[in-house]
Amino acid sequence: MTAEVGFGIIGLGRMGAFHASLLRGPVKGARLVAATVDPGHRQLLLGSGQAPCPLVDDVDALFAMPTVDAVVVVSPASLHHDHIPRAAAAGKAIFAEKPLADSVERAHAVADDVRRSGVPFQIGFQRRFDRGYARARELIAEGAIGKVEMIRALTCDRMPPVEFLRTSGGLFWDLAIHDFDAARFLTGEEVSAVFAVGSIAVEPQLTEFDDIDHGIVTLRFANGALGVAQSSWRAPAGYDIRAEVHGSLGKVVTEVDEKYPTHLYRDGGVSQERHDQFVERFADAYRAELQAFVDALRADRDPSPNLDDALRAVEIADAATRSRREGRWIELA
Ligand SMILES: NC(=O)c1ccc[n+]([C@@H]2O[C@H](COP(=O)([O-])OP(=O)(O)OC[C@H]3O[C@@H](n4cnc5c(N)ncnc54)[C@H](O)[C@@H]3O)[C@@H](O)[C@H]2O)c1
Repeated sequence: MTAEVGFGIIGLGRMGAFHASLLRGPVKGARLVAATVDPGHRQLLLGSGQAPCPLVDDVDALFAMPTVDAVVVVSPASLHHDHIPRAAAAGKAIFAEKPLADSVERAHAVADDVRRSGVPFQIGFQRRFDRGYARARELIAEGAIGKVEMIRALTCDRMPPVEFLRTSGGLFWDLAIHDFDAARFLTGEEVSAVFAVGSIAVEPQLTEFDDIDHGIVTLRFANGALGVAQSSWRAPAGYDIRAEVHGSLGKVVTEVDEKYPTHLYRDGGVSQERHDQFVERFADAYRAELQAFVDALRADRDPSPNLDDALRAVEIADAATRSRREGRWIELA
């Protein structure tokens, strides 16, 4: 595939709308053809005149369009196990948002279907395309900090609506999954065991579906290194995200706190504005990951991060969730 890649999008919510805006200009070699959303959202978009592209009735109509070469699956996590295999069966290249599916069993079934179909696949772990995370990985791979011995990863975000969380799979599946992938990406090592704890400090309704809003996952890696992934749905000063990898020679830290390289000095103190939302903090990375996907398709290269990366992340999220519920270490295969 060398010509411009025609895209269809499944879902135009918080994340899908942003992907649509990227495919309408900033991502080169791509063209946004059409999208589909749920019927209620469709009415809303048509009524407000805010649809970014033509809307078709459902995923089948999208898959039937010959001008759609690739799809971005950015529907709720609970629908990925349905939408991804159907896109694969229709022969569309797939860029899917995390998680691959809402259970490990379903994730493996999805991966098997995609592999059998042979369509190109990329999972949306955008931190790998962030300048800070990418540079940290380069330094670690070059041996700049020696042998990796420990990692600390943190993500604190504002809580999405409880209705979204109900089908998200929980804190470890929805939020910490980025730290699990970042831990693998940065260290270059596989996680071999996890022990997790969690608490509810923000939203008591989470007990209804056995979720948490604060969680800490201790990670053990195959090479003996240790790690901690700390996540919460509490970010009073805006999106808060960082990673620190310790090695035998030094450590590498990646964190971007400022929205602007500007400090306000006033009333005996200094303040700076922070990124409020993930779309601000990772705007460049979201563009870069889609650009990498398009470039891979046009050059007939395998996109990355791939199905194995998508699977490892859900296996860690699942193990962390079970560990938190059962109060014990869970080993990963
Ligand atoms: N990579 C990231 O940083 C990041 C950030 C946010 C969300 N996400 C992921 O993106 C996905 C979507 O999250 P969101 O926050 O945008 O959700 P959302 O609830 O805001 O939007 C969901 C969209 O899916 C549509 N939809 C629902 N059912 C559908 C169906 N049957 N067919 C077609 N469309 C349907 C809805 O109409 C809506 O447009 C999730 O997998 C989430 O984990 C990733």
